[in-house]
Amino acid sequence: MTVNTLIDEKAIQKRIKELALKIEQDYSNEEIVLIITLKGAVFFATELAKSLSLPTIIDFIKVSSYSGTQSTGEISFNLDISENISGKNVLIIEDIVDTGRTLTYLKEYLGKKNPKSLKICTLLDKKERREFELLPEYVGFEIPDKFVVGYGLDYDEKYRNLPFIGYIEQ
Ligand code: IMP
Ligand code: MG
Repeated sequence: MTVNTLIDEKAIQKRIKELALKIEQDYSNEEIVLIITLKGAVFFATELAKSLSLPTIIDFIKVSSYSGTQSTGEISFNLDISENISGKNVLIIEDIVDTGRTLTYLKEYLGKKNPKSLKICTLLDKKERREFELLPEYVGFEIPDKFVVGYGLDYDEKYRNLPFIGYIEQ
């Protein structure tokens, strides 16, 4: 299998800096809780967090809906957040929004904990695959309907450590 580059490392880093700047402006020095979805969003989230000059708290959540390249259509809950987010500005950090199922679920779940604000920041958006109405507030790149790997994204748990985003050619 060959992995072709879709977005190279330099372009990703440049875009993350732009997103960080936008987020800083929008939250104007208020405290923010980044809820990072495991495992995929970790690479993106750490880069983004390092570029943010806001008072920042980090937390993690893990739900899964995928096996292989096909969505199973079911969400399983693997790890919950440990922070109290009531009254806080919460920003969910995701690697990719595909059908929108995962984030629709997460938004509803976290919304019940009464955050002051609740937004979504995703590195990638496969807009044309959307089945659930969901508009992430911050999007790194809109991408075509291709299965992508790298920069945290996996195919059966492999390729997450690639420093770029690529697609697999069989
Ligand atoms: P959704 O619930 O359909 O929006 O799917 C979101 C999740 O599916 C993401 O958090 C990824 O884990 C996974 N996913 C969707 N598309 C891709 C892809 O192209 N490559 C790797 N993982 C993907
Ligand atoms: Mg994911």
